[in-house]
Parts: sequence; C-alpha cells; structure tokens
Amino acid sequence: MQAVIFEQSGRPEDVLVVRDISSPIANQDQVLIQVAARPIQPADFLFIGGRYRIKPVFPQIAGLEGVGTIVACGTEVTSLKPGVRVAFRSPGAWAEFAVAATSRVYPVPSGIPDTIASQFALNPLTAWGLLAECDLPKSSRILITAGRSVVARILARLAQRKGLKATLLVREGSGYSILDGDNSQMIAQGTTVDGVLQDVVKNGLFYAILDAVGGPTSLALIDALEPRGRLISYGILDDGDITLKASRLLYKNMIWQGFGIDGWLNNTTQEQLGTAQQELWEILSDHPELLPVIDSFSLSRIQEAIHTVYETHCPGKVLLVG
Ligand SMILES: NC(=O)c1ccc[n+]([C@@H]2O[C@H](COP(=O)([O-])OP(=O)(O)OC[C@H]3O[C@@H](n4cnc5c(N)ncnc54)[C@H](OP(=O)(O)O)[C@@H]3O)[C@@H](O)[C@H]2O)c1
Repeated sequence: MQAVIFEQSGRPEDVLVVRDISSPIANQDQVLIQVAARPIQPADFLFIGGRYRIKPVFPQIAGLEGVGTIVACGTEVTSLKPGVRVAFRSPGAWAEFAVAATSRVYPVPSGIPDTIASQFALNPLTAWGLLAECDLPKSSRILITAGRSVVARILARLAQRKGLKATLLVREGSGYSILDGDNSQMIAQGTTVDGVLQDVVKNGLFYAILDAVGGPTSLALIDALEPRGRLISYGILDDGDITLKASRLLYKNMIWQGFGIDGWLNNTTQEQLGTAQQELWEILSDHPELLPVIDSFSLSRIQEAIHTVYETHCPGKVLLVG
C-alpha cells in the first residue's frame, strides 16, 4: 500500500516521504480500515516533530486520524464488522490502510460526508470533553482563546447549545480582539491580552477559560478568572516558558488543569462517550461549516498539501484523500 512515512523527527517538508509498504494487520481488538480521507492537524506536525505525547516508532507512518471503511476485524472484535464506515484516531492514518483500536473508532451516520467525518475523532470530541470537564451551570461565562480555531468554533456552538455564554479571544494583526461567541461580533480590541481582557472583565469575570495557546499570556488569563474558576490548557500554540508566583493561583482558589484527548477518552464512561457522539454528529450534520476544508490532495502529493497548510491563513483543514 502507499503510505506517507518518516524515519526521523523533523519538519514535515524535510522528513516525510511516500513509500510502498505492506499493509498492517488487525490484532485482537483492532480493526483494519481502508482509509478515504485524513485531515492535516497541528497535532500531526507535533507528532512528526517528536513533540507530541504519542512518540513515533521509526519507520513511522504519519497521521493520527481519518475516516474509512472497515475491511477486517481482530479476533476479539464483536461490536463492529467489515463494511461499517468509521471515523478513527490512530497513529498511521496517512496510508491507504490503517489499524485502530475499537475504543478509538466511531461509526459514521449516513449522510455525513468524508470531509466532516474525517475530522471527527480529534477536534469535535476535544471540544465536547473540554466542556464536560468544566461542568458549568447554565449562563456561566467562559473564555476561549485561539478563538478562530476549529476547536474554538465547535466549543462556541456547544456552549450555546448548553446555555453557556462564550467569549472568544483572537489574534488580530499585531494585537488582540474579543468576539461574542454567539455571533462573532467584536466586543473589544487592544494591543495586549492583558489590556483587552481588563476591558472585558468589567462586565464580569469568567468561570472557565479554555486555552489552546499557553506561554506567558496565560498569566493574563488567570487574572480574568472568577475565584474558584478553572483554567484548562489544551494546546501549545505558544509553548514559551511561564514564570509564576504560587500566590497568583492560591489567592484565587483556582484550578489549572491540563487536557489531552487520549487521557480524557481513557477515563470517560461509555455512556458519556455515547452522548458525546450523538450530540456532535447532530451538530455537525446541521452545521458542516464548523469543519471547513481548504483543499484536498492525494497521498502522493503530500509536499503540496503541507505547503498549502503553511500558506493558507483562512480557517479550515487540508485533507489527504484516497
Ligand atoms: N489537547 C488536545 O487533546 C487537543 C485536541 C485537539 C486540538 N488541540 C489543540 O488545539 C489547538 C487548536 O487546534 P485546531 O485544529 O482547532 O487549530 P486550527 O483550526 O488550525 O487553528 C489554529 C488557530 O490558532 C491560532 N494561533 C496559532 N498560533 C497562535 C499563537 N501563538 N497565539 C494565538 N493564536 C494562535 C491561529 O490564529 P491566526 O488565525 O491568527 O493564525 C488559528 O486561528 C491546537 O493547538 C491543537 O494542537 C489539542
């Protein structure tokens, strides 16, 4: 089969190559999937760079998620069968065939296109899991950083559905803007995160802040939290060092929590995961615009696909298809 592999960690354009290799085999609780489409995500670049929580085993097939059709099942699989169309999360997705554990495989309802289903296993489940971790009463105010990201857009939609009041923090030129999560209308503008947040918290502090950025601006986020509020760090778009006095946390009685999708999935109940899938498929069926696609490339055109990711600055994902 054709696969995009790397034999050492590095920048995707330097280390990725297309090779013909033998197809994997589904063991015990795994399924073998003929893959139709896979998105290129920030997590893929971290994985290829050796900076992700899942470490490559060389030669490593790239890619962490996709959509396709089950073609074979391991000996212990009872809940799935060949012919079922599934979204999945598993290292090795950028190949014609991939194996995935049944716990990371999600049957796709009919009518959902590959463009949407291929992105299901990471960002939508992450957004759902983040709000589940906050467990906030209705009308609570939440702040979402990197507010134009795909995760943020799904978070805002889920928050609206749950009766929460979402506010988005976005980069704007050399400064920052605050947008209303319901309609993307601008609420405030400023040159620093600190400054723009000071304006906004005059209307009330936030019960939870969901942060994909990290780095030194995290400190301004802490000051925008309600006492006993929760800051969840789930991304490292800026992985710079943070210098912090413990007093800043303890005077607020706040919780600062990390969130990784795999850790969350390992600790969530089947019932909760079932509810997440049902709610998310409904939302994505009604609002496919939440998972925009910029362009699609075959596996053999991986370098063009990577270049398009670097060059495009509008929201959405580049897909590898076929
Ligand atoms: N913890 C988990 O399990 C988990 C799961 C899924 C995703 N994530 C993380 O969530 C984040 C969002 O993922 P996504 O796929 O939704 O992203 P995306 O759609 O590719 O969007 C990335 C956004 O981040 C903004 N951004 C990039 N660097 C920034 C910086 N230094 N400061 C402020 N904003 C910055 C970009 O803003 P501009 O438009 O200004 O460039 C862009 O809007 C990523 O960090 C990803 O790794 C984590």
